[in-house]
Amino acid sequence: MSGGDLLAELRAKARTRLDPAHWDFYEGGAGAERALAENERAFRRLALLPRVLCGRGPADPAVTLLGDRLELPVVISPTAFHRLAHPDGELATARAAAAAGTVLITSMAATTAVADVTAAARAVRPGAAVWFQLYLQPEREVTRALVRRAEAAGCTALVVTVDSPVFGRRTRDDRNGFHELPPGLATENMRDLPGAPPGRTRDIAMSPALSWDDLRWLRDGTELPIVVKGVLHPRDARRAVDEGVVGLFVSNHGGRQLDAAPASVDALPAVVDAVGGRLPVLLDGGVRTGADVVTALALGAAAVGVGRPVLWGLAAEGEAGVARVLAGLRAEVAHVMALCGAGASADLTADQVVARGARVVAGC
Ligand code: FNR
Repeated sequence: MSGGDLLAELRAKARTRLDPAHWDFYEGGAGAERALAENERAFRRLALLPRVLCGRGPADPAVTLLGDRLELPVVISPTAFHRLAHPDGELATARAAAAAGTVLITSMAATTAVADVTAAARAVRPGAAVWFQLYLQPEREVTRALVRRAEAAGCTALVVTVDSPVFGRRTRDDRNGFHELPPGLATENMRDLPGAPPGRTRDIAMSPALSWDDLRWLRDGTELPIVVKGVLHPRDARRAVDEGVVGLFVSNHGGRQLDAAPASVDALPAVVDAVGGRLPVLLDGGVRTGADVVTALALGAAAVGVGRPVLWGLAAEGEAGVARVLAGLRAEVAHVMALCGAGASADLTADQVVARGARVVAGC
């Protein structure tokens, strides 16, 4: 079964299992959902030029990222509320990620506390890397408390999402009136933070007043390396490098923030160029097939992230469904790499990515 077929099967199954408002929460984007649609469409507009007779032997899709070996160049992007999809929620996702040999980036808006997520991952594979995604909060003591939780849980990196000065306007959620979790579920990382009544959770706040100064403050207050997520402008990428972050995520937040944003893969080459190899650049948004992954790698991404495909697997079949998504992508990446003449992701080059439907220009 090809990756596309597998995801189509899991997505269809997920849809039948989920409350329609929860399905819309997972599937939806901001505004007219143009950025959401573009993410996948932009990959379809690209083709891969294979190289032949390269003699490289079987393709190995493993990569090294921030010092960790990943068995596939695909991490799990942070998404909120996994227990809406399945009662095991983030625990299932963490186990599947650890078993597959990749990184789970657990969301600050997870429905399972970060310490329980890291424990679940490490019960499967000691040393499994779990990164913590963070929105900088307007009150520094709240951000500090969240960072201390991630540190205490043994997370190995912070992923600071910077594309959300305000929430995107999610048309489907407004239509469905979906603005809070059902009884019994809560954003567990937000419990008992400064300013919250004992035992209660705080709302996640966004703030357009935050700046690079706040990122610097964060960097100076933690030993954890910082990856910045949600960069599309090359100038911001350069600034992030100057600020001492260790990685960048090119992302339009799965089309859930600025609806006028370009597709992530269309923004990737300029960011890769701006960064000039000084740190790893990741990409998420619309990655659905092995060819999408290989395309992003060829354009200079160190790895990619997937958001919705993991939610489909989780909602459809729990941990086993997430495992199927990751195994399917790994197999497809290896297959497409081999067909492109690559033995490792480093063998792929940007001149192998061309516009579909346009004449190939020999600029290589
Ligand atoms: C997200 N995303 C996200 N990002 C983040 O930094 N923190 C979060 O809590 C969430 N939550 C979230 C929930 C849901 C339901 C979705 C679909 C997405 C964005 C996510 O990390 C990622 O950027 C996109 O999901 C990538 O696009 P695809 O793979 O879903 O197309």
